[in-house]
Amino acid sequence: MEINPFEIVQKQIDVVLEEISLDPNTGQFLRRIERSLIVSIPIMMDDGKMKIFEGYRVHHSTIRGPGKGGIRYSPHVNLDEVKALATWMTWKTSLLNLPLGGAKGGICVDPMKLSKRELERLTRRYTAEIINIIGPDIDIPAPDMNTNAQVMAWIMDVYSMQKGRTIPGVVTGKPIEIGGSVGRESATGMGMFYVLQASCNKLDIDLKSMRIIIQGFGNVGGWIANILYENGSKILAVSDISGGIFSENGLNIKELLEWRNQGKLLKDFQKNNHKHITNEELLTQECDVLIPAALENQITEINADKINCKIVLEGANGPTTPDADKILYNKGIYVIPDILANSGGVCVSYFEYIQDIHSYFWDLDRVNQELKKIIVDAFESVYSVSKERNLPLRTAAYIIALSRVAKAIELRGIFP
Ligand SMILES: NC(=O)c1ccc[n+]([C@@H]2O[C@H](COP(=O)([O-])OP(=O)(O)OC[C@H]3O[C@@H](n4cnc5c(N)ncnc54)[C@H](O)[C@@H]3O)[C@@H](O)[C@H]2O)c1
Repeated sequence: MEINPFEIVQKQIDVVLEEISLDPNTGQFLRRIERSLIVSIPIMMDDGKMKIFEGYRVHHSTIRGPGKGGIRYSPHVNLDEVKALATWMTWKTSLLNLPLGGAKGGICVDPMKLSKRELERLTRRYTAEIINIIGPDIDIPAPDMNTNAQVMAWIMDVYSMQKGRTIPGVVTGKPIEIGGSVGRESATGMGMFYVLQASCNKLDIDLKSMRIIIQGFGNVGGWIANILYENGSKILAVSDISGGIFSENGLNIKELLEWRNQGKLLKDFQKNNHKHITNEELLTQECDVLIPAALENQITEINADKINCKIVLEGANGPTTPDADKILYNKGIYVIPDILANSGGVCVSYFEYIQDIHSYFWDLDRVNQELKKIIVDAFESVYSVSKERNLPLRTAAYIIALSRVAKAIELRGIFP
């Protein structure tokens, strides 16, 4: 069953609009995308043949500041997915009260099928196609699924070459040597850890005793696995696109990260007392904390009833559909919503952007301390709204985020 993520975004907005009284004109504004650009990206493949890929860059809202959001390379990318992801970015930056809006981009491509040179040509041509709607004051891209610091370096280079000077603030998630921030790569995982810690304190449970299952073993899944493993929690299972690996006694995450870093898939990892499971099986295994950290629409009305954990910590964007959300809530599962749980990435992206503008760079302690303060403050606000109004954390987070954007719309008014 195909689930359209932008329809889910609309449903999530409806849930919040039932809870807060908003001027209907403002409500209409929140639902709409400010601007979307579809581009054709022709590249010469290594075999001398030309291929044309489709790319997107969407600004959901720049009402509170420049757009901010990642770029995704995947064969499943389409305009509605990018629109949904851009909208979630608006809520995320607003929830953290960062002076930024929400944007997202992507190319419909399977990057595994491209050589490094082809990937570079694709990235450079895509950047040239979207150059008029990105920039430090307009919209600042960052990595997302299947893009990384190297891809950001190419984007920064194309942009700087076109403008005739080096402009590191056009992207975040860059290599440190060219204006990146320490702690950016681990930021989403660190933020998830701080929010999980704060939640465990409220729930009066010991994080170290938690048994964890993680779907996705890339930037987000890999970092949160490593942080929780180092903190002493037992990681029962992790997965990548090829499937999952499970051990009742807990996995050695360092060993698996080394395996992944050699470019190998988890389906090929063999060890005594470790069994292979599918991604579907992984989600319904019994555990304390389930962390979907791969892609959207993983917990749906079809499997929600079988989810067997105390806490869902959403590392991915949009991993739980609204119908599944209701089922989890009725089962008493504590869902820490994506716009809060995985907002550490955009938070440190913001720090990177400030450091670039000031040409003054922080150390890791400062990055993590400031991240912890912002994300735990956001968690506390969400927690108190959820307690006051007896609502799920997601609705509480949305109330805070949407209300801030709504206020900005009302204050600015409608041009002309
Ligand atoms: N990178 C960030 O800073 C960041 C920040 C916030 C949210 N996110 C979100 O987190 C999610 C993961 O992003 P990432 O940056 O870690 O991406 P990534 O490309 O580094 O890793 C993605 C992981 O998911 C796996 N995967 C891909 N397709 C899958 C499938 N069909 N089933 C199961 N596993 C699959 C991949 O094998 C890989 O292990 C995305 O939803 C992204 O939007 C990322």
